[in-house]
Amino acid sequence: QGLLTYDPGFMSTASCASAITYIDGTQGILLYRGYPIDELAQRSSFLELSYLLFHGELPTPSQYAEFMSKVQAEMLVHEQLVRFFTGFRRDAHPMAVMCGVIGGLSAFYHDMLDFAESRDREEAAVQLLAKMPTLAAMCYKYSIGQPFMYPRYELGYTENFLHMMFATPCAPYVPNPVVVRALDRILMLHADHEQNASTSTVRLAGSTGASPFACVSAGIAALWGSAHGGANEAVLNMLDDIGENSEENIQRYIERAKDKNDPFRLMGFGHRVYRNFDPRAKVMKESCDEVLDALGMANDPKLQIARRLEEVALQDPYFIERKLYPNVDFYSGLILRAIGIPTNMFTVMFALARTAGWISHWNEMAGHPHRIGRPRQLYVGPTERHYPAHAPND
Ligand code: CMC
Repeated sequence: QGLLTYDPGFMSTASCASAITYIDGTQGILLYRGYPIDELAQRSSFLELSYLLFHGELPTPSQYAEFMSKVQAEMLVHEQLVRFFTGFRRDAHPMAVMCGVIGGLSAFYHDMLDFAESRDREEAAVQLLAKMPTLAAMCYKYSIGQPFMYPRYELGYTENFLHMMFATPCAPYVPNPVVVRALDRILMLHADHEQNASTSTVRLAGSTGASPFACVSAGIAALWGSAHGGANEAVLNMLDDIGENSEENIQRYIERAKDKNDPFRLMGFGHRVYRNFDPRAKVMKESCDEVLDALGMANDPKLQIARRLEEVALQDPYFIERKLYPNVDFYSGLILRAIGIPTNMFTVMFALARTAGWISHWNEMAGHPHRIGRPRQLYVGPTERHYPAHAPND
């Protein structure tokens, strides 16, 4: 055991070498394949960015058109998969349903692919990118008892998702460009974040040679927790709990977050890597102001509470000393809520976005020689002992 390095929480252990995403936590820099996140959020689209993450370069116009039409053509899911849903309770958390149905994709698309071939790895990636929005929207439709809406090939990726969420057989979804762009930007800001808990989970599962569909299902499970992707839902629940924008209510939550005897943490605050600011949060905050303004919700009481909570926390020595700042999820929930996404679907939106990163990391690993991921441990249990001559239950 003397040869082992003990690093609980992987504070300083690099588990792999990767050329996908670069983070400088001190300077607040995030680059996808070398491109700054704020430039991409302004000028790219989620699908183009997914291509960039997976292939390493931005697509040419013809590569992009081909990629887009492949994804659009695969958005429909197998009719048998539709039946999975009826096995779930209507009030099941959508993340529970997502773990099941995405893992279930392996039963349909795994056997026909040879993951030693880059063409087949791209096929798996296309299937996952294409089917995530359809299955995510189906989770929502199932929970509210509405019929599933089929994807429409002529719609863009994000618009198609909104159509499947909000159209009904009686009424079409009328796209609002502000909403489509805002959601597309949220997807871009969440698309990858190097070796976070869910991506590491996908890589670890993938290192055994498991199906990428099953690996992504494992990633969804890891994402669900409130310390990771579940934070966006938890922020909105926290803002709901605070209720009124009164100094007293806000102060009470700040005090709870500081109290070491209370497990409560200020949701949407703090990050393992960013120690000055989260560059995604900066773009997200600007986007939140723009979107709520464009939708005539600039005076949204929840936005006022969030702003004041941030202000109070950033002046508090507890948060200053520990370098705790708003992260990407402090403002994302406010945008999602403004565009009509229900709170329990927020983490599903994160999963939809992070699929781009998960499959890119899985592809990077599967395309290179790699060993099975197999962490060691420090054993702290009893030393060797012997089974009693008379077994305790004799
Ligand atoms: N509220 C109150 N105290 C906090 C918070 C918070 N949100 N975050 C960290 N701390 C304290 C923590 O108690 C510890 O204090 P002390 O040194 O006195 O023991 C110190 O700050 C360092 O915290 P840590 O738990 O060692 O930090 P970590 O790097 O292990 O955890 C984190 C990072 C994101 C899990 C944590 O900051 C947290 O739980 N934040 C709230 C949940 C959240 O917003 N998660 C979303 C992360 S961004 C989206 C994503 O990538 O998933």
